[in-house]
Amino acid sequence: MKSSDILKENNKYLIQNYQRFPIQIVKGDGSYVWDSKGKKYLDFISGIAVNNLGHKNRKVNSAIVSQLDKMLHVSNLFVIKEQVDFAKELSESKKGFKSFFCNSGTEANEAAFKLARRWGVLNGERSTIVSFSGAFHGRTFGSLSATSPRKYKYGFYPLTPGFKNVEFNNIEKLSELVAKDKKIVAIIVEPIQGEAGVKFSNKKFLKKIEILCRKNNILFVLDEVQVGIGRTGRIFCHEHYNLKPDIITLAKALGGGLPCGAIMVNPRFADFLTPGSHGTTMGGNPLSMASGLASFKQISKPSFLLNVRDRGAFFLSELKKIAKSPKIKEARGLGLILAIEFNLQEDAKAFSSICLERGLLVLLTEKYNVRILPPLNVKVGEVKNALKIFKIALEEMND
Ligand SMILES: Cc1ncc(COP(=O)(O)O)c(C=O)c1O
Repeated sequence: MKSSDILKENNKYLIQNYQRFPIQIVKGDGSYVWDSKGKKYLDFISGIAVNNLGHKNRKVNSAIVSQLDKMLHVSNLFVIKEQVDFAKELSESKKGFKSFFCNSGTEANEAAFKLARRWGVLNGERSTIVSFSGAFHGRTFGSLSATSPRKYKYGFYPLTPGFKNVEFNNIEKLSELVAKDKKIVAIIVEPIQGEAGVKFSNKKFLKKIEILCRKNNILFVLDEVQVGIGRTGRIFCHEHYNLKPDIITLAKALGGGLPCGAIMVNPRFADFLTPGSHGTTMGGNPLSMASGLASFKQISKPSFLLNVRDRGAFFLSELKKIAKSPKIKEARGLGLILAIEFNLQEDAKAFSSICLERGLLVLLTEKYNVRILPPLNVKVGEVKNALKIFKIALEEMND
């Protein structure tokens, strides 16, 4: 079928809830993907931080194939060895933490909220969950209620009661709310707000949340759906900030490319989700567990993570040179989640379109920001090629 026909059928048979690129990606290998016309692109979107090992990772693929030979699905009514293996490996990285597996980021956050509320029932009848402006926690009703930008919520009211939103990075406002509202059971924060355009939580702000949680018997929840699993050069982003969360929510890269989400919970709180209180049919299925474990074993190696930090530091220092252009407000990043923020929306749009034409995929985010998410095993030559394209794009925009 011709690409134009596929596009027509896409519009005819699929609900049009995505704003899609005007190309069809048909195959991938390492840091590259190809469209249906054979054009090659350097993929610096990585499935929005899913393909952390690039495409067609040999070890992930062979783990999937050998799992397929054994068993595709088994119900959570039974003990699933692949789940145990993955949870054990994750727990090595966060000593003693216990996992519950689901299928996506929004489900991971739902699970965190449910656990927090169940714990809150027995701890002062508390149920309020606090999140921050700019936050994105997912699109199911609970997670959507914690998500802040109105554009995600328009048309879906009424949302779930018991959610409060405070200005991001505003310690004073948060302290005031915690002093006033004695029903708060959990505070959820993204260490770096990815969907908001790679906006960083202030270090002091994160520490203050932790302190407020400790003093007021509130659960400290970190949403690491986008920034976890090595993206920032540490297994968990919060390691950069020396934080001790009670619950970590994960998804995206967790499954090594297959659908997978999880909460990792401090054992003090983990057992509040008792048998029957929460669950999912597909969560923790053997296939995504095998794939996730094969991916995690590669990513969690100290030498691999060091390389992510080095490559990210090089990329950011080069981006900062490019950011001297009067069109650019700022370049920022940590590890291999980076962004260029433009002064004008049109410029951010033009820049990402030129990159696409020139064979580089980057992601226009929240109007002014171009988000850059290379695979974590990206080669230095590939980063240099992307930088060349960025420079060309800026030159073309000046013409
Ligand atoms: C920080 C964060 N939390 C939650 C989600 C929702 O994840 P999912 O799309 O897998 O439901 C996302 C997705 O972009 C995210 O970036």
